[in-house]
Amino acid sequence: MRTVDLIQRKRDGEELAPEEIQSLVDGYTRAEIPDYQMSAFLMAVCWQGMTDREVGALTASMLNSGERVDLSMVPGAKVDKHSTGGVGDKTSLIAAPLAAAAGAVVPMISGRSLGFTGGTLDKLEAIPGLRTNLTIDEFRAQLAAHKLAFIGQTEQVAPADGKLYSLRDATGTVESIALIASSIMSKKLAVGLDAIVLDVKVGAGAFMKKQVDARRLAQQMVAIGRRNDRRMQALITDMNQPLGFAVGNALEIMEVSQTLQNAGPVDLTRLSLELASRMIFLAKVAPTLDEAREMAQGRLLDGSGYRKFKEVIAAQGGNPKVMDQFELLPNATGMREIYSPRAGYVSAIDAALIGQASVLIGAGRDTKEDSIDPAVGVILEVKSGQKVDAGGVLCRIYYTGEERVDEAAEQVEDAFRISAAQPEERELILEVVG
Ligand code: URA
Repeated sequence: MRTVDLIQRKRDGEELAPEEIQSLVDGYTRAEIPDYQMSAFLMAVCWQGMTDREVGALTASMLNSGERVDLSMVPGAKVDKHSTGGVGDKTSLIAAPLAAAAGAVVPMISGRSLGFTGGTLDKLEAIPGLRTNLTIDEFRAQLAAHKLAFIGQTEQVAPADGKLYSLRDATGTVESIALIASSIMSKKLAVGLDAIVLDVKVGAGAFMKKQVDARRLAQQMVAIGRRNDRRMQALITDMNQPLGFAVGNALEIMEVSQTLQNAGPVDLTRLSLELASRMIFLAKVAPTLDEAREMAQGRLLDGSGYRKFKEVIAAQGGNPKVMDQFELLPNATGMREIYSPRAGYVSAIDAALIGQASVLIGAGRDTKEDSIDPAVGVILEVKSGQKVDAGGVLCRIYYTGEERVDEAAEQVEDAFRISAAQPEERELILEVVG
């Protein structure tokens, strides 16, 4: 079959057969199909969508592009958590150590920054020395010893997702229910997990802008997981304003440290605890969700989640002292404050604009070859609903090069809405699917 025919048929809204999808994914993974043809195909999927059968076939093809990671020799129930992508979303780095400290085994397979959203792997790699490219044997050994290990998709695990992920990032083809569902689930199914907790983001700073689309994405991933015998739950959560105060890799590690010491932002703490509770519950470490919530809260208050994270940083070659001495993390060399033009209430902080501004100054990638500047980002001084004075500081931009700071500052200024009336408080956790 000719690749161009498959592209044209998808462009015209036809359903492709599983073997046609398999041949596209195989051809691309083996570098027989060039980037430009795969980009055209991905764009056609963004416009036309995919049927459930096609999404199932795409997930299976990406999963079969690599090995399955057998974790049966690691004792205990295994649970992972994955987000569909947000701004300032560092919940994985808080929920995973809390769940592991409570007794769940957490083999965490994370992604890199995508579009205006951050990536757990990039955040972790802001920690000097920390390796996320563990071999499968190292991954297993670390899980057995510490109950928690972080890796990315690799040459061995869902390599097709790795290639497609960076191509999508550079071709405006991220925002697709079919592509997100298959990308996430191919990585998750490659690993011998018992349960998966998903955080499906909705709002300005998410790929899904409407709750109905977020629900569809959640339902699709839950269904794929269940068909593969995984216990599944998905939360649909608000991503209109950034989560917490910090956006940018090293800045987010600092906020993770504060949050694991129970001194973090309220929204970030609340969501991380809820995700950890669901991980503990689905791993059957606690018999009820309420007991799982007590456990997660207990691991936060007694500092064992914080100690677990430091233990895992050291196990992966990083310097755990960064959690107490932030000067050991990459630090920005310049800072610019953004002021409120008038007095009033912060009625919105557009998370996508804050995310894009962070990418502009180097916190994310413009092209798939770009490297990340771990030191840069934005720290909010206010959150939606708070009162500000005219000239009050709304946020601070941290940078290492001057080049794109003016452009980033304009985007950040545009992100804030200041109104005379206090806005209604938004729910953070909107729905549970599964
Ligand atoms: N996270 C992933 O792993 N893949 C996507 O496509 C989006 C978020």
